Amino acid sequence: TELLKIIQGIPKAELHLHLEGSFEPELMFEIAKRNKITLPYDSIESVKQAYKFNNLQEFLDIYYAGAQVLLHEQDFFDLTWAYLTKVHSQNVVHVEVFFDPQTHTDRGVSFDVVIKGIYRALEKGKSVLNISFKLIMSYLRHLSEEAAFETLEASLPYKDIIDGVGLDSSEMGNPPSKFEKVFKASAAQGYKLVAHAGEEGPSEYIWEALDILKVERIDHGNRCLTDEALVKRLVDEKIALTLCPTSNVALKVIQHMNEHPVAKMLDQGIMATIHSDDPAYFGGYMNENYYETAKALNLTLEQIQQLAINGFEASWLSESSKKKHI
Ligand code: ADE
Ligand code: ZN
Repeated sequence: TELLKIIQGIPKAELHLHLEGSFEPELMFEIAKRNKITLPYDSIESVKQAYKFNNLQEFLDIYYAGAQVLLHEQDFFDLTWAYLTKVHSQNVVHVEVFFDPQTHTDRGVSFDVVIKGIYRALEKGKSVLNISFKLIMSYLRHLSEEAAFETLEASLPYKDIIDGVGLDSSEMGNPPSKFEKVFKASAAQGYKLVAHAGEEGPSEYIWEALDILKVERIDHGNRCLTDEALVKRLVDEKIALTLCPTSNVALKVIQHMNEHPVAKMLDQGIMATIHSDDPAYFGGYMNENYYETAKALNLTLEQIQQLAINGFEASWLSESSKKKHI
């Protein structure tokens, strides 16, 4: 359609993508086979059947299970490379991707294996596909702060290739404040800071991410609109929200796309951007996220363009690189 063509034509930046969430069932089966691991599914169809979620936790349980077949450097390379070739076809020219080291190190896969595979693919994407990148390691918030400290320690040999740290996994009951010390220590190592907040959790968690963790972007942040003072803070300080509309519908953060807050956020002057979160599980990469949102909310061309500009604006590219894209 016309709308899809317009979206395809706009160069885009992806700032909220979990590499483990880009693991398509076809590749999962292929890697499981060569690693001699049996998946609890007998076909790709039955995998897709299982991808029906009532909340974040139901998704996370399946997402962590899927990641179990990743064992070798080549597996992490293949995962990342598949993602990059996919988004290249959607005119994504810059990515800032998350990985969850603890999902792998807790199974005995070393930090080195994980990051070497991912980084080799990102480098190839830069040279072959001309996709620039940043890499963000996320601490799993359902685990302890002590465990996050161990991950920080394991990352230090690679701190020149890791740009920032994030905070993801089960939000309710795991407020940002639980990770105050490890975020402070991460900043001291030169890492930039982001955190998931206000996806299922309340606006207080967004305040905590800003005031206690001192993050520069909020991943999701859907719940901010209920809090006028918070909206003012986000606008005044140009704090970006990396929204993931298809994810929000899949995880029932909202009941229907036409309830998505992104249009109201733009109206109120919030630096809102659109991303895909876990596209293999939610059925939408960047273009589908833009398309579904634009269609359901009747976004204007100006609003669509603003979302894409905000993606670069909120990125960690240098000011001169941003200018080339905007
Ligand atoms: N890990 C992967 N996707 C996530 C999401 N949407 N929220 C929290 N943790 C995640
Ligand atoms: Zn996410």
